[in-house]
Amino acid sequence: MKKGEFTFTLIKPTAVRLGNLVPILHEIDLAGFAVIAMKMTRLSRAQAERFYEIHKERPFYRDLVEFMSSGPVLAAVLQKENAVNDFRKLIGNTNPSQAEDGTIRKKFARSVQENAIHGSDSDDNALIEANFFFSQFEIFSH
Ligand code: CMP
Repeated sequence: MKKGEFTFTLIKPTAVRLGNLVPILHEIDLAGFAVIAMKMTRLSRAQAERFYEIHKERPFYRDLVEFMSSGPVLAAVLQKENAVNDFRKLIGNTNPSQAEDGTIRKKFARSVQENAIHGSDSDDNALIEANFFFSQFEIFSH
């Protein structure tokens, strides 16, 4: 995987539970991202705590960990030029009430916490997050 050409995403428990998994993957496909790793899994509380450790001091951390371990999620690594920034544009603002029309969060999020999907915020974090979920044998870089 070349730095700058991939990002990591998680489709969150509510979106999976409401049957929005395939519609969201369709949007990602239409936007030109190639799936190079993918798995459906459920995070333990300890795993969710580790994944969101950078938010440990934030007031929403406990609730977030609870929510993210409440049901299955879909984890994927996506390849495209300028992947991190393009993907953040595709998913829209963290808060769906501020997300632009046409973005995934505008269409599928229910609240700031249950905002349907996560996307890495930097190339460094994309690598850390991809390695959190996948081994080198599970990522099929083009
Ligand atoms: P995500 O992109 O996964 O990164 C951190 C997550 O924390 C965010 O999406 C939301 O699901 C959740 N969150 C809950 N409350 C807030 C908040 N007030 N500000 C930012 N993120 C929040």
